[in-house]
Amino acid sequence: MRTVTVDIAERSYRTMIDQHLLMSVGEQIQPYMNNANKVALLVSKTVKKLYAERVTRSLIILGYDVNVFLLPSGEENKNLTTVSELYDELIENAYDRSCLIVALGGGIVGDISGFVASSLFRGIPFVQLPTTLLSQVDSSVGGKVGVNHPQGKNLIGAFYQPKIVLIDPTVLKTLDHRELICGYGEILKYGFIRDASLLQKCLDNKQTILELKDMELISEIIQRSVEIKAEIVSEDEQEAGVRMLLNFGHTIGHAIENSCGYGKILHGEAVILGMCAALKISIDKLEFDPVKGNSIIDSLFNIKLGHDLAGLDIDKAMMALMRDKKIRDGKLNFVLLKDIALPVIVNDISPEKVRETLEWLIKRFTIGAGS
Ligand SMILES: NC(=O)c1ccc[n+]([C@@H]2O[C@H](COP(=O)([O-])OP(=O)(O)OC[C@H]3O[C@@H](n4cnc5c(N)ncnc54)[C@H](O)[C@@H]3O)[C@@H](O)[C@H]2O)c1
Ligand SMILES: [Zn+2]
Repeated sequence: MRTVTVDIAERSYRTMIDQHLLMSVGEQIQPYMNNANKVALLVSKTVKKLYAERVTRSLIILGYDVNVFLLPSGEENKNLTTVSELYDELIENAYDRSCLIVALGGGIVGDISGFVASSLFRGIPFVQLPTTLLSQVDSSVGGKVGVNHPQGKNLIGAFYQPKIVLIDPTVLKTLDHRELICGYGEILKYGFIRDASLLQKCLDNKQTILELKDMELISEIIQRSVEIKAEIVSEDEQEAGVRMLLNFGHTIGHAIENSCGYGKILHGEAVILGMCAALKISIDKLEFDPVKGNSIIDSLFNIKLGHDLAGLDIDKAMMALMRDKKIRDGKLNFVLLKDIALPVIVNDISPEKVRETLEWLIKRFTIGAGS
């Protein structure tokens, strides 16, 4: 069993990574039940069909009273209406503060469930069972929970840490290939900001990872990613400083995601493109070695994404950037790299430089170019 501790005083918790861990959720959550026996399992339709039974069985065997609550899937349902419906159902089913909320699913289920847990009865303990690669390496760890507002993504939320995170990498076998690429993108991000050998390992073993050919290697890179996220969150739980480094690739990534229309290009795919852009700006504006940088950019462009940038409207992307909270005094706040694992936060990148980089990105990233 691989274990990573997220060390934040009395809110510290463990992330455990092991194949088939979903079969022993009951045993793992026992320490957090405080003599209560009611568990609310929150899950989306797809994941319910695939994995809810093995989780409920492991809980019922130990005498827990489990209710399954179905969450609508899709970013458009990550909102206060869904949250409110869940409050109603949990209250109707006599849940109280002594119960446990268990989120089984990707980042959407995790974010909604965590927000419900943070706010209902001023806080119910909750556990994350992430089932997408992105949620396993990113959203389930760190305690950011929340939902979208019509004015923007994740505008309503809280910092609320889970009691434990249980990661079973075998569930990735049923995941859509594009979703795997999204998680892979976030793993590369950890490599870029903190660990050159993780980055190299991921680039060298791209096919093996994306085809899930070696579960030990997958477990190892999930563990390393969670370690890096845990280190950063432990240092800066509420994003006052170093946690901002996790935005590497996300400034331009969000603008691309936003202007292509949500759902067309997926978050992790946009982040991969955003990281290419950040690398390019790092080569042009900082002393990042161009030979090394361009060779990495080439391998990133080789990742076959589900959507290209041919129709990207640069004006729309620039507007999305300007609306982004990372802008201050007309200058964009960027995480750039002096070298791999040597990130810096830079605030003097002009909108013109970003526009030029977007033009470059569109030219380089055309459909069919990837392998
Ligand atoms: N809280 C954070 O720190 C944080 C960080 C990054 C992203 N996020 C949020 O995470 C969300 C994206 O999460 P995501 O990428 O996991 O997407 P997602 O939750 O939408 O899941 C993607 C799809 O995969 C399906 N699925 C999940 N697990 C599966 C499995 N094992 N097999 C087959 N299908 C499966 C889901 O039903 C869904 O259709 C966004 O809302 C984003 O804002 C939050
Ligand atoms: Zn991300």
